[in-house]
Amino acid sequence: MDKLKIVGGHQLDGKLTVSGAKNAALPILAGSLLSSESVNLQNIPQLNDVATMLTLLQSMGVKVLFDEKMNLQLDSSDIDSYCAPYDLVKTMRASILVLGPLLTRFGQAKVSLPGGCAIGARPVNFHVQGLEAMGAKISVENGYINARADKLCGANIDFSRVSVTGTQNIMMAAVLARGKTVIKNAAREPEVIDLANFLNSMGAKITDAGSDQIIIKGVDKLNHSKYKILPDRIEAGTYLVATAITGGKIRLKEVVPEHLTAVILKLEEAGAIVDVGDDWINLDMKAKRPVSVNIETFPYPGFPTDMQAQFCALNTVASGFSSVKETIFENRFQHVNELQRMGADIEIQGNNAMIKGVETITAAPVMATDLRASAGLIIAALVAQGETVIDRIYHIDRGYERIEEKLHQLGAHISRESG
Ligand code: EPZ
Repeated sequence: MDKLKIVGGHQLDGKLTVSGAKNAALPILAGSLLSSESVNLQNIPQLNDVATMLTLLQSMGVKVLFDEKMNLQLDSSDIDSYCAPYDLVKTMRASILVLGPLLTRFGQAKVSLPGGCAIGARPVNFHVQGLEAMGAKISVENGYINARADKLCGANIDFSRVSVTGTQNIMMAAVLARGKTVIKNAAREPEVIDLANFLNSMGAKITDAGSDQIIIKGVDKLNHSKYKILPDRIEAGTYLVATAITGGKIRLKEVVPEHLTAVILKLEEAGAIVDVGDDWINLDMKAKRPVSVNIETFPYPGFPTDMQAQFCALNTVASGFSSVKETIFENRFQHVNELQRMGADIEIQGNNAMIKGVETITAAPVMATDLRASAGLIIAALVAQGETVIDRIYHIDRGYERIEEKLHQLGAHISRESG
């Protein structure tokens, strides 16, 4: 099992081009199943989760080609299987995103229940209920969702709580359904908008994506498209926090600053100087110790839960007291135990982490438990005294492209030990 070794105490300073967004690539790859022709995708990040999704699509008969510029060509005209097996779904929950496309284009789907993960139970009841409201016949047996529908019908779907992939699954099911679908209390994440833009580029009729009410008018078929995935706002935010904790400075390129408004406001509150342009963000911490900032996670455009662990790490060494409230997932403080082993002064009270900033933390052998917790541990290790060894970093490889290479080029003392 690979490990990362990080010697703390080195300021990050440099430039970085942000990769394509994992959480846009995954639904868009699933959405390629909807097209009767080939689709060409650009800016796809080289991540384990993307590789898993491509393996899943190929297992169904989708032809997958990468060209010399790493552009991806997908052709789902000869699909011969409508099943997402457990051995793939258990490693990547977002596989549930093939359910809507398979059902609405082929009238059938057999998708393993994703099961929970380190951060929570992660049920998919909203996905199932929404598809049933559109006329799907769904049974859950032996850990699989079995779905059938001669032709899905448009419906009014009102989510009882915001769900990103729930919104995406229903939106994809609706593009080939008969009639109009209105999704209320829809997720407003940029990755929902990116998926809608991709689907519309293939001939779908989706309006108001990005608002809490999305309207989809069903069409008969979708066609060829050439589409570029949007930049990864969470990868960008992660490197901004990594730079801030070390007192350094960074210029992020090929990023969408307005997707990071809530994160940038918190970084400025922590003492960072942040400037933005059309497609770049400059952060300069001017060698200062961060100031503690209170965090409460919300659906977009609120503060993103996927940046919570990173700010726990920042607050660990900040001056003052802070509270970090996690309102989206029921168990997303796995990183706290590991931060405490590095000397953090954190107390968990329900869904709140109460953090008293300490001057220094020390290196320790720690273990990654989930994707963003891993990012939090790396950020802490960048300022810990000594060499921190992070185990089970397959979690980090799921969502961060070449992380040790990018941090090394920014000045971090980091290496990967293959084990
Ligand atoms: C997406 O997960 C992201 N994953 C997550 O990113 C992100 O943390 C999350 O949205 C919240 O922003 C992808 O886009 C692939 P939800 P998703 O449905 O869609 C409950 C990362 O680190 N819920 O918005 O699975 C659910 O339990 C990952 O990149 C139900 O109860 O999250 C949670 O408490 C981690 N029933 C809340 O809603 C359902 O049917 C929000 O979950 C669906 C969700």
